[in-house]
Amino acid sequence: MTNGNAATGLRDLNAGIPDADQLKGAVSAVYDDVVSWSRTGDFWNWGMHCDELLTELNGLHPGFNAGVSDGFSEQLYYQALRGLPYSRDDFRTLNVLEVGCGMGEGLNFLTRLVDPARAVGLDLSTAAVRRANAILARGERLSYVEGDAESLPFADAEFDLVINVESSHNYPHVDRFFHEVARVLKPGGHFTHIDVFDPRSYPRFQKLQQEVDAFEWAYERDVTENVKESIRRRMAPGSFFRREYARKQMPLRARIIGGLGGGHYAGADFIGHRDPVSRILELARIRPKFVGEYESYRHHVARRA
Ligand SMILES: C[S@@+](CC[C@H](N)C(=O)[O-])C[C@H]1O[C@@H](n2cnc3c(N)ncnc32)[C@H](O)[C@@H]1O
Repeated sequence: MTNGNAATGLRDLNAGIPDADQLKGAVSAVYDDVVSWSRTGDFWNWGMHCDELLTELNGLHPGFNAGVSDGFSEQLYYQALRGLPYSRDDFRTLNVLEVGCGMGEGLNFLTRLVDPARAVGLDLSTAAVRRANAILARGERLSYVEGDAESLPFADAEFDLVINVESSHNYPHVDRFFHEVARVLKPGGHFTHIDVFDPRSYPRFQKLQQEVDAFEWAYERDVTENVKESIRRRMAPGSFFRREYARKQMPLRARIIGGLGGGHYAGADFIGHRDPVSRILELARIRPKFVGEYESYRHHVARRA
């Protein structure tokens, strides 16, 4: 799987790039590029590992990842359903939107677990949306659209649930995104948000939680250690992730960025992991050195008032 935060969004924000449109252009260009070497079935997140979650998931969908993935990214998507008040029956009547869906695999996976009336994935990357529609779309039940999280192309109160997984750290104005989510959600609907934070973005997020009246925050879980465990397992010699990474048809520049074993895409910076080749490439200034700092990786759920 190409599980990874391929965008350098967090780093770019840390560097203080002022132009939001420029940043969005760079993010969509990076992800368009990632599509060109991604394989069907690839998620683009760091994943998480939690024994309890995995047992539950195997109970719901035995062999859910057999032969196709290491299952960590699916666990992260399953975590996104935690803290929501819906039974599997309830889901059958829900309209669900995922913002920042990548190539659509996460939303597709969730529709195999629960079966919403309508599921729509939105992403900034034209190529990711094209790939998702070509491979995963199922008419009205599951579709993908191109768009910007800060200006959602949907009517007021169109959705019951909005999902956002490891994407919002790329948005220049998370406040605009929050207001857009509040607008497209029905009163009583829910917003489930998962992302990585740095020491500046987490206080900003907490401030927004207080400022945006439309949301009542109902659930929080710090999954930092679970995400780190996923990354550690992916970075272990001979892991499924490393084997898949080695098989990818990637251009040289993408491999240089990814490093030996694809640590950049797997989130190795989050655990402070550096393979020797990456160290040398960084010292030679061929591969950019990670200079940021992380705070945590968290899941929050809010109810639309
Ligand atoms: C790390 S990937 C996560 C993809 C997917 N959620 C997953 O977990 O596999 C981040 C995604 O956010 C998308 N993204 C970044 N900025 C966006 C924006 N302003 N609006 C919509 N999508 C955006 C990127 O194109 C990318 O597909």
